[in-house]
Amino acid sequence: MSQTDENQTEEKFFSINNVHAYYGESYIVQGVSFDVKEGEILALLGRNGAGKSSTLRSIARADDPEVKSGEIWLNGQALHEMKAHEAALAGVQLVPEDRRIIQGLTVEENLTLAQVAPGHGWTLEQVYDHFPRLGERRKQEGTTLSGGEQQMLAVARALSRDVKLLLLDEPYEGLAPVIVQEIEKILLSIKKLGITTIIVEQNAVAALRLSDRAAILDTGEIVFTGTAKEMLENEELMHEYLAI
Ligand SMILES: Nc1ncnc2c1ncn2[C@@H]1O[C@H](COP(=O)(O)OP(=O)(O)O)[C@@H](O)[C@H]1O
Ligand SMILES: [Mg+2]
Repeated sequence: MSQTDENQTEEKFFSINNVHAYYGESYIVQGVSFDVKEGEILALLGRNGAGKSSTLRSIARADDPEVKSGEIWLNGQALHEMKAHEAALAGVQLVPEDRRIIQGLTVEENLTLAQVAPGHGWTLEQVYDHFPRLGERRKQEGTTLSGGEQQMLAVARALSRDVKLLLLDEPYEGLAPVIVQEIEKILLSIKKLGITTIIVEQNAVAALRLSDRAAILDTGEIVFTGTAKEMLENEELMHEYLAI
């Protein structure tokens, strides 16, 4: 590898290069490429069914969709050669749309279970500092929390592991505007800690407020990458691909 290539890899921190992924015969992720610098937040936007969740699942090395070609790099590690548990150990933490709070466990048990993983992240004190509501509800069963609180728990659980790349799939989905604001504040405080993040959101404006850069997916292909500001100011783009 030449000096220039090395520098580029370092600067990119995360990159997905020409990834093609399938559910069985269904060709869904059609040559996706973008990169994210260390500490940046990238908003991955696009209409319903564009392939956003599938792209996040490809990055986290979920069983499906199957990545048939392309490369995914995180901090010099080849994610495309890894299984899901290896990607998690490499620092990829996906907070899925359905949040997956473990039934029968309290808030605190959900968090401590996440900390069992090698090289764990935040302590309980750090979590409760950033998410005071979770501290108040620490003894409550996780699945009995409100939607917003479950979302907080899902994010907190990801931060309780060794996270180098946080993948958020529609964190505001189904939440009242006041709760969205509360979670947005928390995500902003996390951003200050410099955790590299990819956020997928239907609420594009809210996602862009938080983000440094943006990419738009349309039927499995990236049709725009730029700064969040460029995207917010481009009415045509917002209208064409996001129906705003
Ligand atoms: N498990 C699956 N099996 C087959 N097709 C799927 C599966 N999950 C999603 N798809 C299809 O892949 C496309 C992209 O879906 P998805 O990545 O969930 O889009 P988005 O998150 O942007 O709404 C859609 O056409 C969807 O129907
Ligand atoms: Mg989705």
